[in-house]
Amino acid sequence: MAVSLYAVLTLAVTALGATIAPSNELVENSQCGRVWLTVRSPDVRISATVIVQDVLELNWDFNGCSTVPTQIGLFDEKPLSWMSALSVFLVPSVEGYVVTNMSVGRGTLPAGWENGVGAKGPKCLWPWVGAGDNINIQAYNCLKIQPTWMEDNAPKINNLRIGDLAIAGTHNAGAWRFDTELSQVSRDSFVLCQDRSIWAQLVHGIRYFDFRIAYYEFYGNEDDRYWLNHNLIRVRPLVPLLREIRAFLDATKEVVFLDAHHFPVGFYQQDGTPIRNVHAGLLEIIQRELGPHLAHAGEFGTGPGSKGPTLQSLINANKRLLFSYVDNSIVSQNSWLWPILPHLWANTNSPTELFQYLDAAISMSPQPTARSPLFSAMAQTTPTVLDILFLRGSLRENADAVNRNVTARFASRWRTQANIISTDFFLGSDVVDLSIMISNERASRL
Ligand SMILES: *[C@@H]1O[C@H](CO)[C@@H](O)[C@H](O)[C@H]1NC(C)=O
Ligand SMILES: *[C@@H]1O[C@H](CO)[C@@H](O)[C@H](O)[C@H]1NC(C)=O
Repeated sequence: MAVSLYAVLTLAVTALGATIAPSNELVENSQCGRVWLTVRSPDVRISATVIVQDVLELNWDFNGCSTVPTQIGLFDEKPLSWMSALSVFLVPSVEGYVVTNMSVGRGTLPAGWENGVGAKGPKCLWPWVGAGDNINIQAYNCLKIQPTWMEDNAPKINNLRIGDLAIAGTHNAGAWRFDTELSQVSRDSFVLCQDRSIWAQLVHGIRYFDFRIAYYEFYGNEDDRYWLNHNLIRVRPLVPLLREIRAFLDATKEVVFLDAHHFPVGFYQQDGTPIRNVHAGLLEIIQRELGPHLAHAGEFGTGPGSKGPTLQSLINANKRLLFSYVDNSIVSQNSWLWPILPHLWANTNSPTELFQYLDAAISMSPQPTARSPLFSAMAQTTPTVLDILFLRGSLRENADAVNRNVTARFASRWRTQANIISTDFFLGSDVVDLSIMISNERASRL
């Protein structure tokens, strides 16, 4: 009854020609400092017999605030009163986090985005966080999707050059669930780096994908030969992922950066010579699937050492997919490809070394003569062969050991200079909302 009445009212309003105002309901608010939700990448054992996956964490940073909240809680609606909190925890420090005992669950993407295009603007999933004293709630936020953040912020950020944007990316973006003849596994220790589909990553606000593409000649059909891999391991076929990106570009005004960054199998001879027809086959597939959206580097590139085109020029031309390619010999023969996008990769299994490396590398980027206007900080540790052999840790534990620090660094030391920040299990950090905030900040200084 309620639903049909609503439908009737909506129809009536539309029929009367009224414009329905966009909902500008606040999804995040704070007088000072911030609170935010993350999803813990490793499982949590909450009792002898119960193990929970995708547990919610409540995070806060009240540095510089004259009053620091004394408590923080998890809610399943906008936090207006402590009476409705599902759990409440003390806030013992100016910044920190607590691990709740509740899972985000396998809910659908909100506002119609699960299977197609939904409503514009940030939209909340069910969990909310609130913090304050024992009477008032002073800061709140929700776990959200940001499906149209570039369009939502267009008047402010469109004059930024792409090299001056802050962008949330995913490392090994396609390694999110096996889809092979042998396996549909969705959680493992050392191959899968993500747990959301490419579509869901886009809807959450990720705009840069690091793809590792492999070629297996033994498939009869050309399309079936191209895979997304993690190193030597096949994870999913490529073409369906390109179609998810296509559907998103067709339906939105967002700009997406796709990076063919490693070709672990089938693209090179033993001596390192590129196998021309395998590269050409991939480029044909990319043009067939994404052609109308491709921003050709030859038309939009602004030369070495520059920050590239503005968002506005890409949007005006309605060319919103930039495809960068790791092999310069192929780039030089295909003027539409964007040049090698430098990865700041620490190649270490130590979080301390990772941050030392990234602090230095980000501060020195982009190189004055860089051919690409973009660069990606690879904000994850890399297990060694021995780690994998002796099952020391897992990619989920490794991500957990760094993602909170990535959030903190992006908000501080990396704030002025970082371009793309690529993480594993991105819901364990706050990189999406930070990238939007930081892009706006940079635009306001133009
Ligand atoms: C989860 O935490 C809440 C309070 O924070 C508590 O009431 C509840 O019993 C806990 N549930 C489990 C399964 O431990
Ligand atoms: C991560 O942040 C915590 C809290 O600020 C800090 O104690 C820890 O040393 C940091 N870890 C690294 C590797 O920087």
